[in-house]
Amino acid sequence: MSSSSLELEILEKNKKSIAGGVVSVNRATNPVKIFKKAKGAYLWDVNGDQYIDYHAAFSPYLMGHNFQPVEDAVIEAIREGQSLMGAGTTIWEGELAELIKACVPNIEKLQITNTGSEATYFALRLARAHTNRDDVIVMQGGYNGWHNDVCFNLMDPLETMTGHQEGEEHQLRPFSAGMPSFQKNVVHVVEYNDIAAIKKLLSTKKIAAVILEPILQNVGIVKPVDNYLQKLRTACDETGTVLIFDEVKTGFRHALGGYQSLIGVKPDLSTFGKACANGYPLGIIGGKEELMAYFYHPDPKKRVLIAGTYNGHPVPVAAAIATLKFLKTNEKEVYQKLESLGALMQSKLEGLFANTKYVTKTARQGSAFATYFMDHLPKNWMDIAKNHQFDVDAKYRQELIAEKIFHFPTPTKQGSISFAHTEADILETIKRTEKAISRIKG
Ligand SMILES: Cc1ncc(COP(=O)(O)O)c(C=O)c1O
Repeated sequence: MSSSSLELEILEKNKKSIAGGVVSVNRATNPVKIFKKAKGAYLWDVNGDQYIDYHAAFSPYLMGHNFQPVEDAVIEAIREGQSLMGAGTTIWEGELAELIKACVPNIEKLQITNTGSEATYFALRLARAHTNRDDVIVMQGGYNGWHNDVCFNLMDPLETMTGHQEGEEHQLRPFSAGMPSFQKNVVHVVEYNDIAAIKKLLSTKKIAAVILEPILQNVGIVKPVDNYLQKLRTACDETGTVLIFDEVKTGFRHALGGYQSLIGVKPDLSTFGKACANGYPLGIIGGKEELMAYFYHPDPKKRVLIAGTYNGHPVPVAAAIATLKFLKTNEKEVYQKLESLGALMQSKLEGLFANTKYVTKTARQGSAFATYFMDHLPKNWMDIAKNHQFDVDAKYRQELIAEKIFHFPTPTKQGSISFAHTEADILETIKRTEKAISRIKG
């Protein structure tokens, strides 16, 4: 699969003024892909070619691109003269907050941000204020945003993890230059599903918070096993540690009440983003009143600063209200459709691969899925790093793109089905996937 000369030209031109050529460097793709239009389940590139989209721009498009009720709400908000008032509260942010509380039972109070990274940043700040502790625990292979606390060991290559033992924390590997060297003193990285590693840290250090995606979705679909989240809840309770579920990816995609409502574990704080505004920039931090109260603590020394010029901007807020209203009104229909499309995709993929030389497992939660080129469903990043055939996955994705099925070309990245996809889209995808698999070389 190669890029068109037009796509290469546009990238070269943009490189002259944009550092690296793309904004958000993780959007750089090989092959170079440049899209210019999206609607529902489809993307169109600058060459005019149409793709069935499973990337969903890193997954916010739960309802599909440019979902009509959301578009209408955004246009209406602008026409009505809603603006960034910059003073006082607004009726629309109140409406959104009420709606979120009605959807997510574990949220007693919340705040609105622009992005998921801001939400996770503030969650850690609240946890530190509440516990008077500095250290935090994050997951190897997880992603919770770009800020310093969570910018370690994103997806370490196997050769850098040779010294790691189960039940132990990882040696820290900053994922970015420019982070202060002292940051290492307050961050610990463990493998997901390794409860012994967390328990050891909690019993030997003063830990403010554990933050994690309840399903490790930065690297596909890695689910909790052996009551991991329940055990984590207990371990945090026993040590006064704040448990933060980062539901930026899982929230609203898997259930209106977040994955926490499916698994029945109550975090102290939760963060949301992505699907909550169906593609518009909005993040949420919410949880126990006791913790959220630090944002307006009467003692200025204990008060946690939350600020942001664009927080509660009426355009993303209108998008979120429209998305959540639609989800709430049509909850059964939406989640049933997503589940049945997801199940169809999974069974068809499993059927396809069963007739090939490739040993695969397709993991899935509702509308999100990932095919691993290994003989069992992964337990954590270390398991993936040891067993997944990254080279085959990379070639598979290249061939899918050549067939106009768009998955992000990085191995292990999840596929996201939207409410706009149809059974016919899935069956067409499977037809093209069969061709793509037959062309994987090596
Ligand atoms: C689980 C999770 N948390 C946080 C973030 C950061 O959100 P944002 O990119 O909106 O800052 C992401 C983004 O991919 C995410 O997947």
